[in-house]
Amino acid sequence: MNKLFSSASIGNCSIRNRIVRSATHSGMASADGYSTPELIEKLRELAINDVGLIIGGNTTVASEGRVADHMLAVDHDQLIPRLKLQTAAIQREGGRIFMQLGHSGAQLLLPDPGFGPSSFSIDGKRPYCREMTEAQIKYTINAFGKGAARAKAAGFDGVQLHGAHGYLLSEFLSPYYNKRTDKYGGSVENRSRMLLEAYGAVRTEVGEDYPVIVKINSSDFIEGGFSFADCLTVCRLLEKAGIDAVELSGGINAEGSKRKAAPRGDLKPEQEVYNREEAVIFKKEIGVPLILVGGIRSYDTAIKIIEDGMADFVSICRPLIREPDLIHRWHNGDYSRASCVSCNLCYIPVFSGKGLYCELDARIKSRQKTD
Ligand SMILES: Cc1cc2nc3c(=O)[nH]c(=O)nc-3n(C[C@H](O)[C@H](O)[C@H](O)COP(=O)(O)O)c2cc1C
Repeated sequence: MNKLFSSASIGNCSIRNRIVRSATHSGMASADGYSTPELIEKLRELAINDVGLIIGGNTTVASEGRVADHMLAVDHDQLIPRLKLQTAAIQREGGRIFMQLGHSGAQLLLPDPGFGPSSFSIDGKRPYCREMTEAQIKYTINAFGKGAARAKAAGFDGVQLHGAHGYLLSEFLSPYYNKRTDKYGGSVENRSRMLLEAYGAVRTEVGEDYPVIVKINSSDFIEGGFSFADCLTVCRLLEKAGIDAVELSGGINAEGSKRKAAPRGDLKPEQEVYNREEAVIFKKEIGVPLILVGGIRSYDTAIKIIEDGMADFVSICRPLIREPDLIHRWHNGDYSRASCVSCNLCYIPVFSGKGLYCELDARIKSRQKTD
């Protein structure tokens, strides 16, 4: 039996195979955060093409947590009916969809400086963010809970807390950004309090049986940042608290981070799976399903990850932007490598209001037309 295409569960959610589309902000929501027919079609294309679980793009739980224009939102009830259309479209095709619950923290839509655990500039270029008061922390934790309740009401099969890549929850985890001296800063237990309390608020709202997972950095890959030892401690706490799975990523956007969340540059086969070493240790130490993301580009690699037990699910982002039918072709015996070269040009249309597509492919096609 082909293990990559065998079904598996996250909590009580059964998924038709081991392939996850990692959260991908599309810039295709309406200006006020509603789901749109174009966004639904983009996601449905993945479900038609055999992706098991789609994790939607970063969805803000609070109006002050928007990362970008045309970002999906879940901060009020009127959003629910159109989100329902999204979940129904995926489930009709046999797919599953989780909502990624996020808050920008200091990576706020410019020019607002945003909020963070302490006052800092996310990358040395942006304005210094404002340090959150305890009341603002409580308000935001509550917003995560309410966002999850709305996601459940809209038919999402589960939710993912975005605790990676230097957004709010990741900023609290990271001693590089978090300089607080109260119960939300200092020791790793204190730095993880925001994430654990957000998880608690979500769990209270959605109940014990609803899948709740987290995306977390294996490390910030920066001196003085969140380390892999920290990551294991936090994952143990999350496991004890009842988390249903962990997606392991890595990197922040700060100048000097040795590895970004989506490193640029074509990956040679031996460079694939750049969170590999951490995954092997995670599987030995932590008892919840592991979703592994980062640089997975070939069928052989994907199936080996599952067969070797390095992870329970493989998670893919950029290759599915260039080839939405990648998983369908692997499923049907065309095992050639993903054509994505990790150039990161896909960020350009997403952040300039054009929506999600492979900019490299578009440039190649337009050149061919003029030749
Ligand atoms: C255009 C684009 C948008 C992304 N949006 C998100 C997001 O909303 N949430 C998130 O956790 N990661 C986001 N990521 C990071 C991916 O989920 C993934 O972790 C990263 O690209 C590494 O996986 P890959 O090598 O398969 O692309 C985004 C990446 C890209 C290229």
